[in-house]
Amino acid sequence: MNYPHNLYIHVPFCLSKCKYCAFYSIACEKPDWKEYCQNICAEIKFWAEKLGKIKIPTIFFGGGTPSLMPVNVMEQILKTVSDNFEIDTDCEITIESNPKTIDSAKLSDFVSIGINRLSIGIQSLNDDELKFLGRRHNVKEALDLLTTAQNMKIRVSADFIYGLPGHNVKSVVNLCDEINKLGLEHVSMYELTIEENTPFGKMNLDMPNNETMAQMYTEIPNVLNLPRYEVSNYAVWGQECRHNKNIWNGEPYIGIGRAAAGRIYMNGVWYEQKGNNEFFEKMPNDMRAIEKIITGMRTVSGVMLDSDIKSQLNTNWILKHPELVVMDEKSLRATDAGMLILDDLIMEITK
Ligand SMILES: C[S@@+](CC[C@H](N)C(=O)[O-])C[C@H]1O[C@@H](n2cnc3c(N)ncnc32)[C@H](O)[C@@H]1O
Ligand code: SF4
Repeated sequence: MNYPHNLYIHVPFCLSKCKYCAFYSIACEKPDWKEYCQNICAEIKFWAEKLGKIKIPTIFFGGGTPSLMPVNVMEQILKTVSDNFEIDTDCEITIESNPKTIDSAKLSDFVSIGINRLSIGIQSLNDDELKFLGRRHNVKEALDLLTTAQNMKIRVSADFIYGLPGHNVKSVVNLCDEINKLGLEHVSMYELTIEENTPFGKMNLDMPNNETMAQMYTEIPNVLNLPRYEVSNYAVWGQECRHNKNIWNGEPYIGIGRAAAGRIYMNGVWYEQKGNNEFFEKMPNDMRAIEKIITGMRTVSGVMLDSDIKSQLNTNWILKHPELVVMDEKSLRATDAGMLILDDLIMEITK
């Protein structure tokens, strides 16, 4: 019997594209859900044939906008998962949502088919900013969805974007103060990234400079009443996103849907996998170890050390830079100062 795998299912549709977003999705009010469902179910069966009836500890519907999906389509997909794999009794099943695409009745239907965690794209608590970002909802609609979800007693997370043109440290402090009033137990705080081939990428926006961005990032944990557990994620202890945590900690996962990536562990060998089974290739131990360092260092608890990981580390450099990185016999982790320069840090700590 093969090892348990987490399941990521990509939903490549949105009502419309937000001006900053480069995630793989197309704007489409009426996607061909029948065709989508057939493709997703075929991929699920493909992996069940390869891996057997393995356990599934988490399922994450990401996007795009999974909340756009009709409930009967999601039900069919979940049934195919449960017919072909063994879904853990306490499986975390998350959907990402855009408040414009889901109301109380639809959320209640999603919960009745097994969804137990909702991630809401609130993005901003200011209507002008939401318009600027190209969002289709206003603050009230987003907060109404939040209250509805909280009343349903499912786990709830919200995404926010900071570092918009004109933002300074005070703006992010105010945002965190407002978020503290919402009773959230999990929050993702993303710094606005200007992506090529998006409307923002072509607009030459007057963004806050790097120093201000760094100050904002440093200030968030001082104001937000949730501790940081990953570069952009904050949660009450025990309410972290188990799916993402598992992946950052190097556990295997299957990516279902076009453009979804996965890491398969089959018969003792790691494979790199892309949705549609387009790419399915053995990963040498050194490549896998580097990948675990990259994802593990994103977390506040860091990467657990084993012989493969140790063999990739530049221990001399690490020991000379305790202000950036801390190593003990079990793990290696970035300090707050290290988190600020994580990409450069990873180049330095690896051989
Ligand atoms: C794949 S989206 C899914 C959420 C859902 N579709 C929605 O928009 O409400 C995940 C999150 O990534 C964040 N995001 C996407 N593009 C970003 C960018 N360029 N800069 C910062 N955050 C971004 C947004 O906060 C968004 O909620
Ligand atoms: S932020 Fe969400 S709704 Fe907006 S384009 Fe990206 S995936 Fe779609």
